[in-house]
Amino acid sequence: MRVNDIFNGKTKAYGIIGNPVEHSFSPILQNTIAQECGENCSYTAFKVEKGMVKKALEGAFELGFEGFNVTVPHKVEVIDCLDGIDPLAEKIGAVNTLKRTEKGYKGYNTDILGLGKCFEIEGFSLEGERVVVLGAGGAAKAAVVLAAEKKASSIYIVNRTVEKAESLAQSVKEFYDGEICAVGYDALMEIPEHKYVINTTSAGMGEGVWQSVVENTDFFDGVAAVVDIVYVPWETKLLHDAAEKGCKAVNGFNMLIYQGIASYEIWHDTKIDDKKAKEIRDILADYYTGAKNEK
Ligand code: ATR
Repeated sequence: MRVNDIFNGKTKAYGIIGNPVEHSFSPILQNTIAQECGENCSYTAFKVEKGMVKKALEGAFELGFEGFNVTVPHKVEVIDCLDGIDPLAEKIGAVNTLKRTEKGYKGYNTDILGLGKCFEIEGFSLEGERVVVLGAGGAAKAAVVLAAEKKASSIYIVNRTVEKAESLAQSVKEFYDGEICAVGYDALMEIPEHKYVINTTSAGMGEGVWQSVVENTDFFDGVAAVVDIVYVPWETKLLHDAAEKGCKAVNGFNMLIYQGIASYEIWHDTKIDDKKAKEIRDILADYYTGAKNEK
């Protein structure tokens, strides 16, 4: 028998709300960061039904919860339950991080920071380049705003439902002066020379799934880097095809880790240096891929 004294009466509570949440990697990620940083806090996953976010957060506030991550399907609904919103999250129209304030929770978006870090790590700059974003859902919003913020000269949004791409393009036009186009997959091969591709669709996601929204792989010719926000499977068909065409292919694991690190930094008013962040990323990648391989 061993005494469990990891948590005590002074432990600060954090968590993730979403539905489903039982497969979330965030508890392992956040508890590892906290342990590395020597913070007395705990992080657990809470399943919250659609329409119940306000009630859940009111209860959590009374219980003293310090912060949350917010995942599918609550990233937009949560905005109406906040006591403040960071300008970047407001621009994106989605919130994935909540920090306790005096009267409630303030919302932030660290998905965009995690995605930005993926490019930074590889040494790729979006400035002055054409970026193609596949998909027009919640994750695409962060990708498109990232491209706009990083001063891409042109952004193409490609989506199965073209109207969704058009409406996303319209909202970004309010603060972006570059070229922004919304097209369907039938026009994929007509997109002019592009340096970066970000896949935000869930088409290739899931254990054993092997499909890609890009049918003609010549689309990857001349592309420097392809980032897929998916990390299950570790290498999606889209990334496999891109790598075969000589592109740098990056899966969504780094985005996951770095959005988590950014959330932690917001909660604790701290900065985790690049070396420590990389150590955390590497140990978690080993754990994650090892755990997968053992199955
Ligand atoms: P998220 O918030 O994670 O982005 P979402 O809002 O449900 O999730 O968006 C999923 C995206 O994947 C959408 O752009 C969706 O296209 P539609 O808007 O046309 O539905 C895209 N998507 C999912 N499955 C797809 C498939 N088989 N082929 C093409 N696009 C797909």
